[in-house]
Amino acid sequence: MRIIIYTGKGGTGKTVNSCSTAVNLADSGYRTLILSSDPAHTLSDAFMTDYIGNEPTKIIDNLFALQVDPVTEINKHFNSILTYIASVFFTKGVDETLSYEIAMLPGMTQLFSLLKVEEAMNHGDYDAVVLDMPASGEALRYLYFPKLAGSIGKKLTGFTGVFSGFAKMFQPFSGFSPSSSTLPPANVLQNELDLLGRLESLSGLITDSSVTSLRLVANPDTFSIENAKRALMSANLYGINVDLVIINKIMPKGSPDSYFAKWSVFQNSKVEEAKSNFYPLPIREAKLYDRELRGIDMLRENSKLIFENNDPSNVFYNGKVFEFIREGSGLRMKLKVPFTDKDSFEIIRYGDQISIKVRGPTGYIINVIPLPAATIGMKLAGSKLVKGELDIFFER
Ligand SMILES: Nc1ncnc2c1ncn2[C@@H]1O[C@H](COP(=O)(O)OP(=O)(O)OP(=O)(O)O)[C@@H](O)[C@H]1O
Ligand SMILES: [Mg+2]
Repeated sequence: MRIIIYTGKGGTGKTVNSCSTAVNLADSGYRTLILSSDPAHTLSDAFMTDYIGNEPTKIIDNLFALQVDPVTEINKHFNSILTYIASVFFTKGVDETLSYEIAMLPGMTQLFSLLKVEEAMNHGDYDAVVLDMPASGEALRYLYFPKLAGSIGKKLTGFTGVFSGFAKMFQPFSGFSPSSSTLPPANVLQNELDLLGRLESLSGLITDSSVTSLRLVANPDTFSIENAKRALMSANLYGINVDLVIINKIMPKGSPDSYFAKWSVFQNSKVEEAKSNFYPLPIREAKLYDRELRGIDMLRENSKLIFENNDPSNVFYNGKVFEFIREGSGLRMKLKVPFTDKDSFEIIRYGDQISIKVRGPTGYIINVIPLPAATIGMKLAGSKLVKGELDIFFER
């Protein structure tokens, strides 16, 4: 059983690459479900089919598609908890409509879309689930949310006995406490225990690298590559395995037109930069078609170009590119690098990122690496190169 998740900056090609992968998997005989939580009807646009809704719709043999409806999912899993928390706000004098608004944690909509993955996996109807996620940064937090809500929530529920763990998460906003406030009714607590159980199961699936792969989609431009790097760093922090980077929409080389030739040279330099930036992750290059990429045939062709003869359900890489280890009040960051000469690189920190300048055969390559929030308030204390790994230490 495999869960393959695509993420990346807006418009880079997450949806079409998710669909391409799903078509390829289905063609290879895997019972495949593709899920999208986009508010717009992107799956039916990509497959060029009729309406796709909250129930699996058959696309081709072995392939079903589902456009998650967050409202339905929230109603199913969270309604009684939501109503309870909102009622507490309401009794504190907050307008009722606003109470509901506040009772929704940021990212909750996405979280409930993820529960659909858990449902599909535990149902056993599919061999592979492909998830088309919204743009990177935020999306990854949603992936981590099960862990947060699951463990904290369960602890709180256990700790306070009968008090809702979810409600407890809102305590800083509402000021209510188990002793001073009306306790949640039994059905709310049961709803919560069920939900936490499912979140825990989801979290287990997502952090298991033999089950889940996160794949990053970028274009050959600075902005989407930076975005993907940040997504990689977060995923590594969260313990989600990233196994592939797709650089999509690469223009063909050798255009006689100087305008396009210039673009091609620029894009080529970005692809080379990406190879060093995402090292040792495998990178697949995908061309920019001369027309909009959509429809089963084009998606199928695109997947063959990307995966060649490989099975898209493979785990293409298993390991952490970045590793962060707490050491006393400091933090050690380990990073695999494509160079081995200890005299050929220079590290400089700029705010929430470090730049590694490496002398290569054709000049300097600069790799800018985003730092986790834990390094705020720490300073770069030293670095060394050990067996192809850069070891950087931050001190408080
Ligand atoms: N390699 C390509 N060649 C031609 N057109 C492409 C290619 N990749 C994507 N497109 C087109 O670019 C547009 C955006 O692609 P897509 O919807 O997959 O991006 P996305 O990352 O899912 O966007 P969003 O962030 O809005 O969800 C679509 O019209 C798609 O057909
Ligand atoms: Mg999309």
